[in-house]
Amino acid sequence: MIKIFCGNIVHAPKFGELEIIEHGYIALKDGVIAYIGQEMPTDWAVYEFNYFYDRLIMPSFCDMHLHAPQYPMLGMGMDLPLLDWLNTYTFKTEARFCDTEYAREVYAKLAQELIDNGTTRVVTFGSIHTDSTLILMEEFENAGITGYVGKVNMDRNGGTNLEETTEESIRETERWLERCADFKYIKPILTPRFTPSCTNELMSALGKLAKTHDLRVQSHLSENTSEIAWVGDLHPDCKQYWETYDKYGLWKSHTVMAHCVHSDKRERDAIKANDVVVAHCPASNVNLVSGVAPIRTMLDEGLWVTLGSDIAGGDVLSMLGVITEAIKSSKIKRIESNWTKDFLSVAEAFYLGTTAGAKYFGGGDGFAIGDKFHAVVIKDSDAIDVKQLSIRERFERAIYRTKEQDIIAVYSDGRRVK
Ligand code: GUN
Ligand code: FE
Repeated sequence: MIKIFCGNIVHAPKFGELEIIEHGYIALKDGVIAYIGQEMPTDWAVYEFNYFYDRLIMPSFCDMHLHAPQYPMLGMGMDLPLLDWLNTYTFKTEARFCDTEYAREVYAKLAQELIDNGTTRVVTFGSIHTDSTLILMEEFENAGITGYVGKVNMDRNGGTNLEETTEESIRETERWLERCADFKYIKPILTPRFTPSCTNELMSALGKLAKTHDLRVQSHLSENTSEIAWVGDLHPDCKQYWETYDKYGLWKSHTVMAHCVHSDKRERDAIKANDVVVAHCPASNVNLVSGVAPIRTMLDEGLWVTLGSDIAGGDVLSMLGVITEAIKSSKIKRIESNWTKDFLSVAEAFYLGTTAGAKYFGGGDGFAIGDKFHAVVIKDSDAIDVKQLSIRERFERAIYRTKEQDIIAVYSDGRRVK
């Protein structure tokens, strides 16, 4: 089946560089991009035509770090730093997901809100509960979301209602992995919550599972100074936080590490050398008063930086919002650095929220030939001065100003999902 799309195409094939095709065309063959350019493709006799003439068409967004069971507390309880925030609000909220009916209700709503905001690829934390995590995967698939979901592992420091025994955590992870074969668009990812939540025995078992089942890994790294000090006490043999993951085979290519706010040069070198992915969560880092991550420095050093909402530490679910939060955080870093570090341009931050994340899922540069179509169509025609503005200006405003209802169509893996 051939589908042709017409509209104002904006994408970021390279970091910091936009390609803008005014009144351009994209052709899909069975959901895969077969053509992108200024001319109407004429190779195909039979096709479906999608005329989005004056709308903006851009890649949909990748949320590389979010906590699905924290959705009910979104926008609340952000008056405490990380460790107190976890113990006071977060673990209690997540503990409710032992109830699968509650999980179904919450996760269906979350999935819909993600799609409505144009997030089609995710790397997500579930909770420790296997059955609720399977429900999360089902609801994501039903809504049209693709990517990775993890059953969380926690066998210490979770309090009374959010802790597994080591044996239970391993057994439940194996049971969960067996069930994951049922999914087409959502894949499993191993998810030791963070070093303080997992005993060495559990970390070691997860490292073995990562190897035998060839699984990716996600966790948290160097988010908050008290957390880092605690990890140091728990692992006196490790010089740095990242080594507590490395010790057990969890620090490897495509491991996603959220935050990395306080990662120094040595830790950043280890991130780069091992092809670990940084999920920068700017809204969360400010809300939990964690710090401002050195994103420009990381980019200059060649690290793989992506963006995450980190709901509910982050209060912004829309990745458009996270993109602008990343720009603002980078400006704070500029002030802090006495104007020695450049802030992120809109084009750069847009790249981080689209192309940099898409690579994690096997995607190419922007709307690349051969990729499954992941896209949003944005209606900004009611905005002021639309007729006088360039597409670049309209794009910039759309990044800052688009609301859920302005995203009039969403495509995920070649299918229309909104
Ligand atoms: N570190 C361990 N767990 C969490 C969490 O749920 N959110 C954030 N932001 N950091 C964490
Ligand atoms: Fe997080």
